[in-house]
Amino acid sequence: MVLRPSKIVCDTAQVAVVGAGNVGATLAQRLAEKNIADVVLLDVVKGRPQGVALDLMEARGVERHDRIIRGTNDYADLVGSNVVVITAGLPRKPGMSRDDLLLTNGKIILDVTQKVMAYAPNAILIVVTNPLDVMTYVAWKVSGLPTYQVMGMAGVLDSARFQTFIAMELGVSITDINATVLGSHGDLMVPLPRYSTVNGIPIDRFLSPEAIDRIVTRTRNGGAEIVELLRTGGAYYAPASAVCVMVESILYNQPRILPIAAYLQGQYQLDDIFIGVPCRLGCKGVESILELDLTEQELADLHTSANSVRQNTDRLRVLLGEMGLSF
Ligand code: NAI
Ligand code: 2OP
Repeated sequence: MVLRPSKIVCDTAQVAVVGAGNVGATLAQRLAEKNIADVVLLDVVKGRPQGVALDLMEARGVERHDRIIRGTNDYADLVGSNVVVITAGLPRKPGMSRDDLLLTNGKIILDVTQKVMAYAPNAILIVVTNPLDVMTYVAWKVSGLPTYQVMGMAGVLDSARFQTFIAMELGVSITDINATVLGSHGDLMVPLPRYSTVNGIPIDRFLSPEAIDRIVTRTRNGGAEIVELLRTGGAYYAPASAVCVMVESILYNQPRILPIAAYLQGQYQLDDIFIGVPCRLGCKGVESILELDLTEQELADLHTSANSVRQNTDRLRVLLGEMGLSF
């Protein structure tokens, strides 16, 4: 008997993940096993992306999905990618700040973005490499893409941590928690307790100011806390989940309102900078930026955060300039 499908479904969504390390490999797993997209996994290290891809392909026998995961060291394999996620670069070691990665990862992002654009010139770019806000700016500049097509992942992760700590403190399901974090992905991020609720009820109805301060501080240190525990690298399960939700929103045009490192042109009185703000995501990328009403203090905190991103962007420009490189 010949089985004939009544309708041929041809879903060719393809995501390229550059950097097949912890975040890249876990993201590839999430994208394939959630049946979101086929994945091309690229790394500079020979054998690593091929090995990860083969392992994930073999897992299909158990996980029962038909997504294709390919590993490569050749950028030509990125042709046809709808979204390119850049995770290439070094993670922190204990005691390091994300900013300590500025020059090393700046050079990598410069190089990687040029190569990506040669083969996937119309893709939407999601940057993950730290220091996130500066790296996203560099990728945008080098890519020449419209601002809405380039974004950084951090706010979804930072908000997920904030939500997790609220749920843990209250002993309630994470399903009921909504909380958001703006600003740069660093010690100066801006968690917004005022915009955080348990099923619509503001968290200050449940938590004392001291408890909220403690949760805010733990959120700001969320990345460092994991680096200290792991000792050999940073977080990757929650970061991969955070990128995955952004990719899904873009590929399936599910309009989500998420905190994204997006390019500001006057919003929040900030200009020519990528920093975390609530955005509407969709198939075109960042479809709009939402301007929340902030208190004077919240706005001042956001500007302090932005100043540190600007300083690091300027510092990187000088350091790269000394090496004859620019963005
Ligand atoms: P990892 O060390 O496990 O993986 C990095 C991979 O990048 C390695 O496989 C390495 O070979 C590859 N790589 C290095 N240079 C490359 C190049 N020029 N071209 C292609 N591949 C290259 O690190 P992990 O944990 O996956 O983190 C990756 C980056 O993401 C780090 O900078 C980390 O700080 C950042 N990160 C950012 C987060 C965020 O919220 N934005 C969350 C978690 C990590
Ligand atoms: C984090 O926040 C390393 O930036 C990464 O876990």
